[in-house]
Amino acid sequence: MNVLDHNRIPTDLDSFFMPFTAHRKFKEQPRFIVGARGMYYTDSNGHQVLDGSAGLWCVNAGHYREHINSSIAAQLEELDFAHSFNAGHPHAFNYASRLVKHFPDPLNHVFFTNSGSESVDTALKIALAYQKVRGQGSRHRLIGREKAYHGMGFGGLSVGGLVKNRSPFGPLLPGTDHIRQTHDITRNAFSRGLPAHGVELADDLIRLVELHGADTIAAVIVEPVGGAGGVHLPPEGYLQRLREICTEYGILLIFDEVITGFGRVGASCAATRFGVVPDLMTTAKGITNATVPMGAVFVSEQIYDCFMNIDDPGVELTHGYTYSGHPLACAAGMATLDIYEQENLFPRAMELHDLWMDCALELRDLPNVIDIRCFALLAAIEMTPRPGEPGQRGADAARICYENGLWARNIGDALVLSPPLIISSDEIKHTFGVIAAAIEQAR
Ligand SMILES: Cc1ncc(COP(=O)(O)O)c(C=O)c1O
Repeated sequence: MNVLDHNRIPTDLDSFFMPFTAHRKFKEQPRFIVGARGMYYTDSNGHQVLDGSAGLWCVNAGHYREHINSSIAAQLEELDFAHSFNAGHPHAFNYASRLVKHFPDPLNHVFFTNSGSESVDTALKIALAYQKVRGQGSRHRLIGREKAYHGMGFGGLSVGGLVKNRSPFGPLLPGTDHIRQTHDITRNAFSRGLPAHGVELADDLIRLVELHGADTIAAVIVEPVGGAGGVHLPPEGYLQRLREICTEYGILLIFDEVITGFGRVGASCAATRFGVVPDLMTTAKGITNATVPMGAVFVSEQIYDCFMNIDDPGVELTHGYTYSGHPLACAAGMATLDIYEQENLFPRAMELHDLWMDCALELRDLPNVIDIRCFALLAAIEMTPRPGEPGQRGADAARICYENGLWARNIGDALVLSPPLIISSDEIKHTFGVIAAAIEQAR
């Protein structure tokens, strides 16, 4: 069968139980994507749309990168699969050595996973196991933050803070708690870059220390820039303050950089961009430019050394996945790094930062717009909900954008943007022009 035959429009829309989908609405008006090149997707009607979301915040180098494609194909010819349980193939080691050079000291060790959710659960488990190994086994609590998204594994969901995601699944993990969210339209609406107000919200961690006792808390996990909850930027000084409190109370700080890793905020990661280094960092998404599923947890020297000094000569961390360090993912990741390095894509979002913010903030006087959040190549344009129809204005605006050649996702009544880092200045201006027209129409 020709590979393109797989792309024929399906007649059976029931067998595939789709992720995060309103199935009945989808079936009324299904949208099929059949091709992608550079900044653009093509759908089954031959309609081209600019990819305003880099897939799902993941195709950071743009679509159809020949170097990545050919590296995956070459790897398949050489070695299709070898596992990494008490064995090794060279690519996982070589790739890890290259990766850590892009991330701040002392995050010098990488644990490979297959997704953001697995990265988060892995980081939480490493945190718990580390506390036990260093003789602080009473530290079993995991702290997240309201409005956070950390994927859909039970660990990530338990420290996550989005009620619609949590509520179908019962009590979740015991021993988790949440600090307050930082989103504050009354004080910070239409901030240019990071919001000025809210540093004091980091001190909410002290409330939980006083409630539970620091000796019961293993780790706190935050997205340095909240993504899937609607693009929420850290108030000036907030991450620094969180770092100070964690250090003071012996709590590990985990940055969930599944979205912010690999160039989204104008550096390899938010830790570098904001000058605050966590003890563990989760990544996925941009790591392979979304060609082969992969994730990576970056682990500090101190944590790694602690495991390596265990008296028992057996397995130091009883955790892993069949596909940790899959050869195809490593090949894809290496080729993706080549592109990031050669095209200097990590700092690119910072170079476009001013234009991006100018264009975004120009929309502030449009009807129903109540906030605009923008930083590097991330933005959310939030509209007030229609009475009794939350999310509908956002969905209408996103549909109009699509019809006019821009795929911008809505999260509730906010349109969110995270385009590939290769976007041109003209494409940025065009993107916000299409959004402005859609907001006018979606009154
Ligand atoms: C911050 C964050 N963590 C974890 C995840 C989960 O990643 P995945 O969907 O690859 O499991 C996401 C996905 O959007 C994310 O944004």
